[in-house]
Amino acid sequence: LSAHFATTSAPGKIIITGEHFVVHGSYALAAAINKRATVRVSGSSGHDSEIISDGRRSSVSSEDGVFTAAKAVIRKIVAESGNRKEIFRVEISSQIPVGSGLGSSSAISVATAAALVSYLGQRRDLDRISELAHAGEKAVHGNPSGIDTAASLYGGMLLFDRKNQVRPVLVNTALKILVVFSGTTRRTAALISKVNGLRTRYPATFEHLSDASSFLSLQAAEAIAKGDLPRLGELMNLSQASLSWIGVSTSALDKLINEILHSNVYGAKLTGAGGGGSVIAVPKPERAEDILKQVSQAHKISFLTSIPQEGLRWEI
Ligand code: PMV
Repeated sequence: LSAHFATTSAPGKIIITGEHFVVHGSYALAAAINKRATVRVSGSSGHDSEIISDGRRSSVSSEDGVFTAAKAVIRKIVAESGNRKEIFRVEISSQIPVGSGLGSSSAISVATAAALVSYLGQRRDLDRISELAHAGEKAVHGNPSGIDTAASLYGGMLLFDRKNQVRPVLVNTALKILVVFSGTTRRTAALISKVNGLRTRYPATFEHLSDASSFLSLQAAEAIAKGDLPRLGELMNLSQASLSWIGVSTSALDKLINEILHSNVYGAKLTGAGGGGSVIAVPKPERAEDILKQVSQAHKISFLTSIPQEGLRWEI
């Protein structure tokens, strides 16, 4: 028997090291952040399921490009239930800025998948929720590695690769990460395809870079487990250099990173697909609040995040 409604939430994410290369099989390190998307699913008497968020509304069958992730998740669960004509009302409220590289779509995909499963009275199986959420990410990205959904679903810090999926990483320090949105949104799919082009033209070079990125992510996980923030920062700087090499940084991001590097941080880099989006940095813990104050004068969407252990939450 299904409940009259179900509410879940899931966190956004940052990628600490290894983005893009993770799409092609290497390790990357990701973590959940203190901003979440909440999804409430209830029944509807209309003719088509609808999604509502921030005063916007779209029906699931419409092709208007709004709420792509949530629509794909709904379509998949309906298809799996033998196209049983269930009409949902899906309400989304999210603290995660859209198009900022902070996992807005993965948090929405995970929370939507879980809320639908719960509403339909199905088993709360995390592998199934992951698979449903992946359909949402696929609709947005084309060929996502799955790292974003893993971080939103499981929370904490995790080492991820496409074959072995998730390995939790112990965070042995009061780690605070500075997150700064550059103000420029971008399309992850376009950047993934740019990197694909490079990989096709320089297969051997790309393989070496991927191996280096994998190794760097393993070292970053080790630095975090040991609470060695200076080393973590340095490894993030190296990761940024490799992302510049493959052409996903921009002059605006480089400028922002240099600005942040001047303010007592151990390291800074872009996070996620690049081309815009957000920058992360490891501040010296005792200076973190001051640095945030300074940076947020010019960059309104800036915040400090710890790494919350909690991923998907069953709100009700
Ligand atoms: O979700 P974004 O736009 O922050 O990018 C995710 C990271 C990529 O490695 C570029 C893509 C992926 O699916 O792993």
